[in-house]
Amino acid sequence: MRRPAWIIAFMLSAIGVVSVAAYWDEERESKAALDDFAQAQFMLATSLSEMTSSLDAAARQRLARVEDPGNVLVLVSAGRGLERPSGEAVSSAPIERAVAAHEPFARLSRPEAAALGLPARTALAGIARRSAGDARGFDLVIVATALRERDREIRASTRLVLALLSSTVLVLAFGTLALWRQRAELRLARDLAVADALRVSDERLMRADRLATLGALATGIAHEVSTPLGVIVGRAEQLSRKVQGDERSERAATVIAEQADRIGKIVRGFLGLVRGEGGLRERVLSADIVRDAQELCAHRFEHAGVTLQLDVSGDALPVFCEPKLFTQVLVNLLLNACDACDARGSVTLGVSSRDGRVSFTVTDDGHGITAEDSARAMEPFFTTKAPGKGTGLGLAIASEIVSHHNGTLKLSPRTDGVRGTVARVEIAEAGKESDDEG
Ligand SMILES: Nc1ncnc2c1ncn2[C@@H]1O[C@H](COP(=O)(O)OP(=O)(O)O)[C@@H](O)[C@H]1O
Ligand SMILES: [Mg+2]
Repeated sequence: MRRPAWIIAFMLSAIGVVSVAAYWDEERESKAALDDFAQAQFMLATSLSEMTSSLDAAARQRLARVEDPGNVLVLVSAGRGLERPSGEAVSSAPIERAVAAHEPFARLSRPEAAALGLPARTALAGIARRSAGDARGFDLVIVATALRERDREIRASTRLVLALLSSTVLVLAFGTLALWRQRAELRLARDLAVADALRVSDERLMRADRLATLGALATGIAHEVSTPLGVIVGRAEQLSRKVQGDERSERAATVIAEQADRIGKIVRGFLGLVRGEGGLRERVLSADIVRDAQELCAHRFEHAGVTLQLDVSGDALPVFCEPKLFTQVLVNLLLNACDACDARGSVTLGVSSRDGRVSFTVTDDGHGITAEDSARAMEPFFTTKAPGKGTGLGLAIASEIVSHHNGTLKLSPRTDGVRGTVARVEIAEAGKESDDEG
């Protein structure tokens, strides 16, 4: 059941409980009052009968004076049925029954009271027996309308109605308040859900926007780079033919051709990535990726006077990735780390694994990163480097590649007390990808 239905059900049952309790209380009081009244009538009849030793004319006259026509009636029963003190015979079934059964009182319904000439209201008869067993014995009956009882009943009914009305008003007021508050809560929840949906779609839009920027860039680069790359490869082949026999020069020409080819592959791979095409993924050892990345950066580190160490406890683990692109991620992180360090600085490239995930970490002892910069570092074109030194694209591209591999990339300050930054890439170990990956 929904909550408004609960509240309404609760309100109705509260009103029901109050009504039943008030009605029960009213019934109980009414019965108690009638009992008291009957007791009083019995006492009155008893004391009158004590004062009346026999039913002679004087006694009958005295009894007649006690009567209050239309309100209080005195009856006697001396073996000939019920009669007024004047001798006029009357009949009343409930009184006769009570007299026969020696009961101290009888209750008369409205018609029964009316039949005795009393107002048509509940009446009570108190019955006293005088000189039982004696031939002159008689029963003395005092019948009176339960007038005050009637007043009390009216007052009690008024109280009952007032109690019911006020409890109903209270329950309705609180119930309405609860409903109103619940509606306000629902409205708030709906507003929050809408705001959340807007935020999610904003984020998607921003990501699409970023991808579009990178896509345009990659397309431009692919186009611009393909011609010079073609020239480089062609010239390297020419060179290689010319220097045949000179092993060192031949090797250098081959390296030039290989690396030019590599650039082409990376650009094409990234282009495919931003177009949403899945490139060729393979199972590779993390050690191979680490070694590749290290080799590619060695020259830059040497030049900057920064040492590059490996910490590869988990490098035997395989990962499932596009090797060229993934190596490029590590290269980007290593180059940033190198840029952040002074001469004689030191950078460690580590691999470790936990719970089916492989972590690649690049730790430097450079100038460090602020929380604000690390939050913005993946934005395209965000750079803190001097003009001409940074493009602000390295981490943007790296984070696209990592998320393409269902991994995470995070930059944070070092936590071991040393100045510097840790960049951490995490992806699933090959064969342990969850179902939605790949
Ligand atoms: N290891 C690091 N230490 C300190 N800051 C870093 C590190 N790596 C990245 N950053 C910050 O992130 C920014 C963006 O990096 P990136 O996207 O690679 O662009 P670029 O290197 O061209 O500036 C850098 O300009 C720098 O402020
Ligand atoms: Mg960079």
